[in-house]
Amino acid sequence: MQIDDVAVQASVAKLKERAGGGLPAIAVLLGSGWGGLAQRVEGAAVVDYAELPAFPLLGVGGHAGRLLVGRVGATPVIVLAGRKHAYETGDAAAMKGAIRTLAAAGVRTLVQTNAAGSLHASLGPGDVMLLADHLNLAQRSPLVGDTGNSRFVDLADAYDPLLRQRALATAEALGRPLREGIYAWVLGPQFETPAEVRMLQRLGADAVGMSTVPETILARHAGLHVLALSLITNMACGLADGRLGHEQTLSVAAQAGGRAVDLLAAILAELPA
Ligand code: HPA
Repeated sequence: MQIDDVAVQASVAKLKERAGGGLPAIAVLLGSGWGGLAQRVEGAAVVDYAELPAFPLLGVGGHAGRLLVGRVGATPVIVLAGRKHAYETGDAAAMKGAIRTLAAAGVRTLVQTNAAGSLHASLGPGDVMLLADHLNLAQRSPLVGDTGNSRFVDLADAYDPLLRQRALATAEALGRPLREGIYAWVLGPQFETPAEVRMLQRLGADAVGMSTVPETILARHAGLHVLALSLITNMACGLADGRLGHEQTLSVAAQAGGRAVDLLAAILAELPA
């Protein structure tokens, strides 16, 4: 699907109308386990993705996708509850219109969250990992089909060093360990094989998941600063007993999500507005 400027501009206009004027400079994209942040948004204007022509229509099954404009504590934020994954249709650009709308609306910082499997013995279920960098192992790009020189995006500091420093300092002040690591993006939706997990470890990845990287690429292309957090829901395939399944991801996410959201809210309070 081609996202055109008309759809982006119409989405920005709708957001401004629904939020009653000025829009926050920080947006947060919620992944599995992080949905609790939506309940902490105060004074929220709620906008369904369906009202925003540049936004994706999410699959059936209860996740319609909605956006909240309000405050978490004193920090004005736009919270995106719902992400369309590349594994749903094969389209790595599924969130292109959403990210371009945020950029056109004046957002400067995108905070991403996801659920991921751990590749590292020192990172266990319930822990949160701060992304220092990523491996695009799906080798897909949301910028395929774009034209012009700006598509050749520099990803040297894909995850903003200053924002990462702030996040680490906030976690430290809270007495919450927050480890930095490398996130490997695989297309999914199947989990990895044990051999793939050994490969990912050898490649230097610390966690593996099925999202986030396309949105980081889109955000950097649009000039946004990116910060990203993974909630570890399981040891990757073969690293612990038991079978993997989405139910397990969701149940660990439900148990550990509250603490992760506490940390996220604290980090948001310390980000440059
Ligand atoms: N692999 C890929 N994606 C995931 C995993 C995993 O083990 N856990 C949560 N998302």
